[in-house]
Amino acid sequence: MRLRSRVIVLASLVFLLPIAAAADDGPTLYKQLCESCHEAGTERAPSRDVLRAMTPERVLTAMETGPMLSMAAGRTGVERRAIAEFVTGKSFAQALSTTPSPQSMCKAGGEFNPLAGPRWSAWGVNTSNTRYQDAAMAGLTAADVPRLRVKWAFAFPGELSVDSQPTVAGGRVFAGTQSGAVYALDAASGCVRWMFQAAAAVRAAVSVGRIDTRSGQRLAAFIGDRSGNVYAVDAGSGELLWKRLVDDFPFARVTGSPTFHNGRLYVGVASGEDANQLLISFHHQYGSHSSITHPGGGLRDAGTRRQGHRVLISNEVGHVTH
Ligand code: HEC
Repeated sequence: MRLRSRVIVLASLVFLLPIAAAADDGPTLYKQLCESCHEAGTERAPSRDVLRAMTPERVLTAMETGPMLSMAAGRTGVERRAIAEFVTGKSFAQALSTTPSPQSMCKAGGEFNPLAGPRWSAWGVNTSNTRYQDAAMAGLTAADVPRLRVKWAFAFPGELSVDSQPTVAGGRVFAGTQSGAVYALDAASGCVRWMFQAAAAVRAAVSVGRIDTRSGQRLAAFIGDRSGNVYAVDAGSGELLWKRLVDDFPFARVTGSPTFHNGRLYVGVASGEDANQLLISFHHQYGSHSSITHPGGGLRDAGTRRQGHRVLISNEVGHVTH
């Protein structure tokens, strides 16, 4: 019996390893992601000694644009660099910059009015999740589409990919990144209005809504991260209004875009496992919340929509009605 419980403890330690690795824990990440091939004589895989002779820049390139792209997929820039430094035993000549350069920041503040100009202010556009934008709101017609030209491009510092759908409101573009940095860019010029650092990757679209706070009404940008946190930040300034861990399950991740309606925020939370997907709804002001567990289907790219008094959650396997 005692042996059995030790085995269980060991097994759960192994299970927990992926989340135990700190972002800059090169040895642990290397063990998890690389060692199985590079120290087992896998065909063509350079041995550890060969890797050690490389520059960290070359190892990083292998992970960012080369043959090891899929091996380090989903890792942040900081993590990939930690692996490269560990495996070569050398440091990068240049430190990684994960903050936008001073030149990329917008000059003047500019009032934020979410109702001005075209908007796509949540994953599904509206609470019916139509994902439809008419020509008047879009500011262009279908005939204009072939004539569109690139107006600006913004390189997210230290990021390889940005998975969250951009949200547009009040002349700003909101987007979350793999490292958890959430940006509000000026829609006209691409300059950075503000940057907010969440605790983990943000892949769910940001949504925008008006909430009551102790200091009056505020326009909030709602952000969900891969550690189960939801944040409301001031959409105009990026200041944190509140943060809440919506589910303390170790692998809980907010993959569905938060949907705001009538003073409530509906948040789809995936458990990180196959079953037990959770829907949490809670009131933004008092923090009370209720949660419902239902099985089946991931909540990737999920949107929540309202129908009468019911909330429909769309997920990978279709619609779940609650
Ligand atoms: C599934 C097995 C496997 C895993 C896991 C793996 N590699 Fe590789 N790696 C290979 C093979 C095979 C090659 C040779 C690729 C080729 O020749 O096209 C290679 C090549 C490389 C190279 C050489 C690229 C160059 O510039 O020549 C580097 C560096 C590298 N891997 C680093 C890593 C790192 C870092 C990790 C962990 C994040 C990793 N690998 C995980 C199998 C693997």
